[in-house]
Amino acid sequence: MLNQYKEAIEKSNIVSRTDINGIITFVNDEFCKISGYSADELIGQNHNIVRHPDVPSSNFKLLWETIKNKKTFKATVKNLAKNGTTFYVNTTVTPILNSDGEILEFIAIRYDTTKEVLLKEELLKKDKELQELNKTLELKVQKKIKELEELNKTLKLKIKEEINKNEEKQRVMFWQSRHASLGQMLGNIAHQWRQPLTELTLTLFSMKKTALINDDDSVLKFYEDSKKIIKNMSNTIDDFTNFFKPDKEKHHFNISDSINESLNILDKLIQKEMITIKTNFQEIEVLGITNELTQVIINLIQNSKDAFVYNSILIREINITTKVDSDEAIIEIQDNAGGIKEDINTKGIDKIFEPYFTTKHTSQGTGLGLFMSRMICEKGLNGSINAQSNKNMTTFTIKIPLAEGMIDEK
Ligand SMILES: Nc1ncnc2c1ncn2[C@@H]1O[C@H](COP(=O)(O)OP(=O)(O)OP(=O)(O)O)[C@@H](O)[C@H]1O
Ligand SMILES: [Mg+2]
Repeated sequence: MLNQYKEAIEKSNIVSRTDINGIITFVNDEFCKISGYSADELIGQNHNIVRHPDVPSSNFKLLWETIKNKKTFKATVKNLAKNGTTFYVNTTVTPILNSDGEILEFIAIRYDTTKEVLLKEELLKKDKELQELNKTLELKVQKKIKELEELNKTLKLKIKEEINKNEEKQRVMFWQSRHASLGQMLGNIAHQWRQPLTELTLTLFSMKKTALINDDDSVLKFYEDSKKIIKNMSNTIDDFTNFFKPDKEKHHFNISDSINESLNILDKLIQKEMITIKTNFQEIEVLGITNELTQVIINLIQNSKDAFVYNSILIREINITTKVDSDEAIIEIQDNAGGIKEDINTKGIDKIFEPYFTTKHTSQGTGLGLFMSRMICEKGLNGSINAQSNKNMTTFTIKIPLAEGMIDEK
């Protein structure tokens, strides 16, 4: 019966026996089949002939400690077959004792679990890959979300930019059309005035003739004064019509000519408001539209005049200087009209260049003067305009690149 048990076990399991030193004394066919060795090759060899190099020696230490203590050792062991392939076996090593309780030999009974172990390994690997995939997927989604958010942001910015550009364009168009219709109106007035001015001159001339006949000096003096006034009126009309003439061609012009033109146009106002204008000009040529610079200077002087009146300044002075600094023309217009209002100056003086920014009553200011001046300086003259204010003075600095010839001369 014992033999039958033995046979049953040997047929269904991988069985080997070793002596107390681990030298193989018996192997069954299943052992030979899985290890790839013949029984002859195995018997007499140490059992570690099938040891896999991956298995740490501490495992064997535990095995030996257990079985030497006459206990059964159970574990799944990784082994190496003769042809180098790996196999896994669920192993039970049992010490066989004699009647005195001493160890006679060890019997190891195993069954093949290679498939299960490999499947488990595969499963673990897949699991890990899945986790990895999950992680990268999460990262990818996050990245995409970020990209989309970024896109959204730049899109918003672009839309804002476009809206701003559009608004600016509309303002320019509004300003240009206002300018053009003013020009037209002035042209009409000039036309209507020239005729009576000529008639007036003729009438005065007859008065002069009568005065000469009558030898009336006082009338002669009146005649000379009136002629001057008429000449002045005629010049003013010419100045204004020239100023509003649509002139969009850029050409080289003298900065001082352009400034003097503004002073001519504002002559009456300057006198009426008792403003002293001090000028210190250098001969400088730049490229652009002379009318436009004239317009900027008019805007600045008008602002100074408004400030003089608003702050009730008695001694009113505006200093205008032009000079060259490296490759730029610099125009400085400085007034002593009280300075830019404190709260604006501390918040950022650039605010005064914003469209519709005004501290004046709606009937007195639209807040477009400086906005337009900056536009002209930047777009029309390729330069810049900035303001500075301290104590009771305000200084506007206009910078315009020099005309090419001017730089070469230097
Ligand atoms: N020389 C100056 N001294 C003091 N404040 C000034 C001076 N120039 C400009 N400012 C301030 O800057 C504001 C904006 O000036 P801007 O010329 O753009 O508009 P405005 O003069 O108010 O109106 P307008 O469109 O009729 O010119 C003014 O309302 C004023 O408060
Ligand atoms: Mg103004």
